[in-house]
Amino acid sequence: MIQTINTILNDGLQVIQSAKSQKELLDAKVAVLGKNGSLTSILRNLKSFSAEERPIAGKLVNEARGKLEQAFATKFEELKILELTARLEKEKIDITVPSQKRNMGRLHPMNVVKAKVLEYFVSMGFTVDESPEIETDRYNFDMLNTPVDHPARNLQDTLFVTDKILLRSQTSAGQIRKMEKTAPPIKMVSPGRVYRADEIDATHTPCFHQVEGLVVDKGITMCDLKGILSGFARYFFSADTKTRFRPSHFPFTEPSVEVDASCSACGGKGCRVCKGTGWIEILGAGMVNRNVLSGCGIDPDVYTGFAFGMGLDRITAILYGINDARVSFEGDIRFLKQFD
Ligand code: DAH
Repeated sequence: MIQTINTILNDGLQVIQSAKSQKELLDAKVAVLGKNGSLTSILRNLKSFSAEERPIAGKLVNEARGKLEQAFATKFEELKILELTARLEKEKIDITVPSQKRNMGRLHPMNVVKAKVLEYFVSMGFTVDESPEIETDRYNFDMLNTPVDHPARNLQDTLFVTDKILLRSQTSAGQIRKMEKTAPPIKMVSPGRVYRADEIDATHTPCFHQVEGLVVDKGITMCDLKGILSGFARYFFSADTKTRFRPSHFPFTEPSVEVDASCSACGGKGCRVCKGTGWIEILGAGMVNRNVLSGCGIDPDVYTGFAFGMGLDRITAILYGINDARVSFEGDIRFLKQFD
């Protein structure tokens, strides 16, 4: 009996000693000291021993248990440190290795400009209403007072999907969509891509960007147009920017104007950017033509309005000194990186 206990003790100590992992060690503990472990089963069978043997056996088993538990605890600590060291070794990182350079993206300069333009108009209480790039010729031309035989259609030849469906040549189509679904007062801007059947060169691309604007309410006059648009030029370029309104013609406005801003590059003295004139044309505008209002179900005797349309590509080019319109569309990373 004494021998059995000793054998269990010695075998147990040996297994504990040779355990290579915490799991192996725990398994060894369960095998000896667990509910069905070898030492535990001796205790459970104590009654099969004689009356003299019983207390001796009990004492020996308890002593063996104490030793095994002690050995287990010591080994457990040892393994814990070993395993931690091994893990630290494995997961070690060399903080002196140079990091991989991550290329940061940034907004395209055209989007920076678009955001700045919208920021001004939103701050003045305008809503932003985008409208479809694929339009009907009714919205893109007819409703804008430009019937089929109107010569202005030639200037805005675009890409046709069918006879009546085209890629919009101007964001002005968005004015009609807005007026048809919203009763005045209206104050909206509408940014987006537009298309023309133009040959590609340094100043022409078949796709470019505009921001349209429309205000319709009772009592809107040319004064409002001038105030809002000269405020825009000051906000966009600089506080001392001057504006000039030249008479012009657009089928959907009457009277119509073209708006110039004093050249931000030379302050109006005349330079290469403004071709020596001191002025840069930034947009077309005018008082909404009566026909356009009434076509959209708005009574022109009660309501008046003004509209404008500006080319984003042009003002982006001026602001950043970009001298070739094509580069904006090429997605060349070397172009984009210049604006970091
Ligand atoms: N749609 C015109 C163009 O593409 C620009 C324009 C001029 C828009 C006058 C307007 C406006 O709303 O009133 O050339």
